[in-house]
Formats: sequence, structure tokens, C-alpha cells
Amino acid sequence: MKRFPTLTISNHPLIQHKLTYIRDKTTPKKVFKELVDEVGTLLAYEITKNLPVRAVQVETPLESTVCHVIQGKNVVLVPLLRAGLGMVDGVLNLIPNCSICHLGLYRDHQTFEPVTYYFRPMAEPEERMFIMVDPMLATGGSAIASAELLKKNGAKNIKFMCLVAAPEGVEAFQHAHPDIEIFAAALDNGLNDNAYILPGLGDAGDRLFGT
Ligand code: PRP
Ligand code: URA
Repeated sequence: MKRFPTLTISNHPLIQHKLTYIRDKTTPKKVFKELVDEVGTLLAYEITKNLPVRAVQVETPLESTVCHVIQGKNVVLVPLLRAGLGMVDGVLNLIPNCSICHLGLYRDHQTFEPVTYYFRPMAEPEERMFIMVDPMLATGGSAIASAELLKKNGAKNIKFMCLVAAPEGVEAFQHAHPDIEIFAAALDNGLNDNAYILPGLGDAGDRLFGT
């Protein structure tokens, strides 16, 4: 029995290579952002592999043939502000038509509890796939609260993409949302006393935005 049945770690060499430089504290801000986007693109490829398709007839220059296009309403990307914004361009490179639903929350520095400050719901949520993006899954508080908010607003099909996950966060998230698959580039060792991921990559928002 898998310890975390809802978690998929991508061991693709390109993802692992890029993640190494993302973790490195000497990586400059510009390169850090580019790499976060690139891993976002690669994870998005993985996460969308089961999107439904429908058959369409196409005239090639030579003959008529049956091909496939993605079926249904636009995928909705849900960046968890701020740090989730760092992966948006990477996902847009792959899914340029996706809708973006910003969800603002931060982790209180004393309690580590998430505080929500912005959310604008999507129309017709029950017919869409939502992809929550955030580089870090630490205690899981932010991701759990975000998924609750999306569900409360009618979302039925949600996936969560992050760069680095802590076992504590995965455990808490899968307990709260056993129906939501998590896609991560790495499962790290655990949290320190300040609920930072070890070895992790530091504060993702600060490194992305230079704060
Ligand atoms: C970070 C990170 C996640 C959250 C993870 O955001 O981007 O949203 O912490 O921690 P958790 O799993 O313990 O909730 P932060 O609150 O630092 O805000 P920021 O994105 O604005 O920097
Ligand atoms: N948020 C971050 O940005 N990094 C961590 O390690 C934990 C939470």
C-alpha cells in the first residue's frame, strides 16, 4: 500500500535537473523564475494527460481523417498568491487558453494558519478542471483552505501542482481532500520549527519577487 496514494512525484530527468538549480541558494532571481516556469510546464503536461478528448474530422492537404481535440470548457488555473503566480507563465506556455482564477492567501507567521484575502469564483465551475498551483506544500494549510473554497464554489474536478511537498503537508492534504491528486517535483524530508520545508528551496515568494 502506497503511503500517499494521491501523490505523484515526477522523476523525469529534466524536472529533477531544473529542481536542483531551483533549490540552490546561489541561483539568481531571474534564472530561479525561469526554472520555476519550466518545471510548471513539465508538471502541467503530466497533470493534463487524462483530459477528455473528442473526435473531429479534419481535411489534411491529402485527405480527410479523424483527429482529436480537447473536449469541454477551458481548464482553470488557480495560482495561490503570491508564489503560485511564479508558475502561471509556464502553464500558459502549454495551455494558452486556460482561464485564471486568482486565489490570495498567506500563511500567518505565528500560527502558520492560512489567511484568505482574495478570491473571484469562476462561472460554471462544475464543468471544468481546476489546477491549483503553488510551489510549496508545507503544513498543507494553504492548499487545504484553497481546495475547500473551490469546492464550496462548485468545483468538482480539482488537481494540485507544486514543486516541493513535505510529508506533513501531503498527509494533511490527502486526509482533507482524498479526491484531489497532487503532482509534485519532489517529496522532501519534513518541516523545521518554522514550518519551512527541509531541504526545500527557502521562501518561494521571496525568491520569486525579491522581497
Ligand atoms: C507559501 C507558499 C504556500 C504556503 C505553504 O506562501 O507559497 O502558499 O506558504 O505553506 P503551508 O503549506 O504551510 O500553508 P506564503 O504564505 O509564504 O505567501 P506568499 O506566497 O505570499 O509568499
Ligand atoms: N513556504 C515557503 O515559501 N517555503 C517553505 O519552505 C514553506 C512555506
